[in-house]
Amino acid sequence: MRLHRLLVVFPIFLISCFTVEDNSGKSSYLTHCASCHGESGKGFQELIPPLNQADYAQENTDRLACIIKYGIEGEVEVEGVVYDQPMAGILDLSPEEITNILNFLVTDFKLRDKKFQLTEVRTQLSRCQ
Ligand code: HEC
Repeated sequence: MRLHRLLVVFPIFLISCFTVEDNSGKSSYLTHCASCHGESGKGFQELIPPLNQADYAQENTDRLACIIKYGIEGEVEVEGVVYDQPMAGILDLSPEEITNILNFLVTDFKLRDKKFQLTEVRTQLSRCQ
């Protein structure tokens, strides 16, 4: 009986070690992004573009890690509105934190169907220009 329980509990323990924690994505978003993009990701007037179900982010999922880490400047068109205010990057964020933030955008802002893996984020970060 005891061994049986161990066989059930141990794999769950192992899985939890290798899964990137979901909730921390939300709190990182609230800490690092919500002050500008808004808690619900709707942006702010003509100054800050939206992230929630917004076309630019959905069409550029291959470079979001770079945008978060190194920022973005110049004109961007999001949902038909042109924005042109530089966003500073957040250099302190680790690839793990960036993965969690992106997965918060996946689950809450419908960024895309598939979750991000740490390896994908690391690959993106190795190719930022
Ligand atoms: C200080 C305000 C500020 C903060 C904090 C901020 N952003 Fe931005 N963000 C902007 C602005 C302004 C732009 C528009 C940049 C431009 O015009 O080139 C932008 C653009 C973007 C874009 C590309 C345009 C779009 O809407 O898809 C993404 C993606 C993005 N931000 C994600 C994030 C994420 C994720 C965070 C938190 C890790 C974050 N930003 C933090 C101000 C901010």
